[in-house]
Amino acid sequence: MTHKQTKLQRNILVTSALPYANGPIHLGHLVEYIQTDIWARFQRLRDNNCYYVCADDAHGTPIMLRARQDGITPEELIAATQKEHETDFSDFLIDFDNYYTTHSDENKEFASSIYLKLREAGHIRTQTIKQAYDPEAEMFLPDRFIKGTCPKCGADDQYGDNCEVCGATYDPTELKNPVSAVSGATPIEKDSEQYFFKLSDFSDMLQQWIKAGHVQAEVANKLEEMFEDGLRDWDISRNAPYWGFEIPDAPGKYFYVWMDAPMGYMASFKNLCDKNNNGSDISFDDYWAADSKNELYHFIGKDIARFHTLFWPAVLDGAGYRKPTAIFCHGFLTVNGQKMSKSRGTFIKARTYLEHLNPEYLRYYYTAKLSSGVDDIDLNLEDFMQRVNSDLVGKVVNIASRCAGFITKKFDKQLSTELPEPDLYNEIVAAGEQVAEHFENREYNKAVREIMAQADKANVYIDENKPWVLIKEEGREDEVQKICTQGLNMFRLLMTYLKPILPATAEKSETFLNTELTWANIDQPLLSHQINKFKPLLTRIEKDQIDAITEASTQNMPTTEEKPTENSTTTGPLVDDPIADEISFDDFAKIDLRIAKIIKAEHVEGADKLLQLTLDLDGVTKNVFAGIKSAYNPEDLEGKLTVMVANLAPRKMRFGLSEGMVLAAGPGGKDLFILTPDDGAKPGMKVK
Ligand code: 2FM
Ligand code: ZN
Repeated sequence: MTHKQTKLQRNILVTSALPYANGPIHLGHLVEYIQTDIWARFQRLRDNNCYYVCADDAHGTPIMLRARQDGITPEELIAATQKEHETDFSDFLIDFDNYYTTHSDENKEFASSIYLKLREAGHIRTQTIKQAYDPEAEMFLPDRFIKGTCPKCGADDQYGDNCEVCGATYDPTELKNPVSAVSGATPIEKDSEQYFFKLSDFSDMLQQWIKAGHVQAEVANKLEEMFEDGLRDWDISRNAPYWGFEIPDAPGKYFYVWMDAPMGYMASFKNLCDKNNNGSDISFDDYWAADSKNELYHFIGKDIARFHTLFWPAVLDGAGYRKPTAIFCHGFLTVNGQKMSKSRGTFIKARTYLEHLNPEYLRYYYTAKLSSGVDDIDLNLEDFMQRVNSDLVGKVVNIASRCAGFITKKFDKQLSTELPEPDLYNEIVAAGEQVAEHFENREYNKAVREIMAQADKANVYIDENKPWVLIKEEGREDEVQKICTQGLNMFRLLMTYLKPILPATAEKSETFLNTELTWANIDQPLLSHQINKFKPLLTRIEKDQIDAITEASTQNMPTTEEKPTENSTTTGPLVDDPIADEISFDDFAKIDLRIAKIIKAEHVEGADKLLQLTLDLDGVTKNVFAGIKSAYNPEDLEGKLTVMVANLAPRKMRFGLSEGMVLAAGPGGKDLFILTPDDGAKPGMKVK
């Protein structure tokens, strides 16, 4: 691709999260790559400079163990996976300027130099901590590699950090009958010295940065709670054996995979700059120096938002680099309204999809669903088929196929000298500004709605003018040529707007229309212009293609995730799902809901959102910190009744021990309501 250099251009660098190098790309991953790719393509189509880089996330224990299990070296595993990933991405028309790996010389250099700068500035400390150790495999075990009986509900075969049956989260040391998933041995506790990044040093800077609008509002709201609890320092080291980069001056200690992963963004870009040095001459510093005026955006999923909005900007700041212009966070993918599932055949690999369907269908459907928010998006397979067939085949391509034949056969492929309805054409040109604004703001669903509204207008025009009837009437050839010229010009506009979403169809349309689709010249209709023979652009999706995909997807998919974990402030999704996973009635029955009387409510020194409540449950007193200060003055609460979760395990907070949870509802801010029960409720009463 070309990146033109003019004065008014914006200079933009975008990234998507780096996929782990030990598992295949699936349709869940693709939400983000498609979202980012469309944004990057849109920027280029608007004549901005936009580079899109990514890489495989190639380090960590799961990759080390997976290679061991397959009897290959980690290098072999990551090379093979990277190749697969690149092919999948390319077949989904994801147009990276560079795709690299975190296991590169450039990344090693960034990891070391950034660490040394942080150490120099006093942001690194060491601490001896106890961790689970497998005496047989002679290695420390990440939480995910310890299994045992849940300490809360007694379910067997649960992971070391959370129970999939009752949802409890706990420390691996609390697990009953723990075994190492690596060797089956019983883990022991072992002390070792670890290196911590002092995230707490950046608390004020981060609060300011978040307030300044670099993250979406819903993400910023959630982050506020983290500041209430105080930011915990982050363990950035792991003991040998570990697959990663060794920490300078610390033999046998390695950078935790989440330390060098985001540096992979820089390393991939650096690699691009070096490759391009003779050609377009991109300057690394122009994009990453502390005073850079260029734009930097990270597209990510909500599960890794804390990491990108706290840890990463703090590391960049501490090491003297610029911080991101914005973090664009999206939701998860559900398929047919539920989490992707192997048994339902909805855990669909990119490759499986590609074996049956055109990638542009999925690109279009995701676009039609995506907004700038963090809501999950649903791929409903039935709706997918109908939407693609009716919008792309039935509306857009149909315009071209209804007009092309006449121009080719009757007018020697020649378009007329003027448009019969220039106003209609100009209306669709004008709508382009709205479309562009929606793309820019990542309101893709609105962009698609606008484009389809214009496609409807174009179809109405052709329906009303009926060239297929006129052509049979003597002396009306001229009219037919004009009507079809009008139709093809409207098709050209629509395909220009759709070009970031459907790059392959746009390319075929360019061949057919014998012109490049550029946004800059949409106001110039194609007149007295020769087109080429029309070839079918897109075909309908058939139901059996969808069935074949679900059938082929009922095989096993390995788990490849290594979410930010131990000692981290980033565990778990930052933004809540609309509705959490289903729980059984038995799970629900474990929650002891009680009426409590608020006997005392006080401000908490140093906390913006919390109130300290003393609750009476008919003689039993509980201390609870509740984040409801925005909605209530403490004095208004005293004497009120509320509902509390009475059997929640106490949680140590910065301000003291919280012994339960008060139930309040509402969107937040002033609108948070304590659920006051009717007369007759008494403290201590069970809520049924
Ligand atoms: O969650 C993941 O899949 C990680 N591999 C993403 C890393 S993104 C960035 F930080 F490198
Ligand atoms: Zn459990």
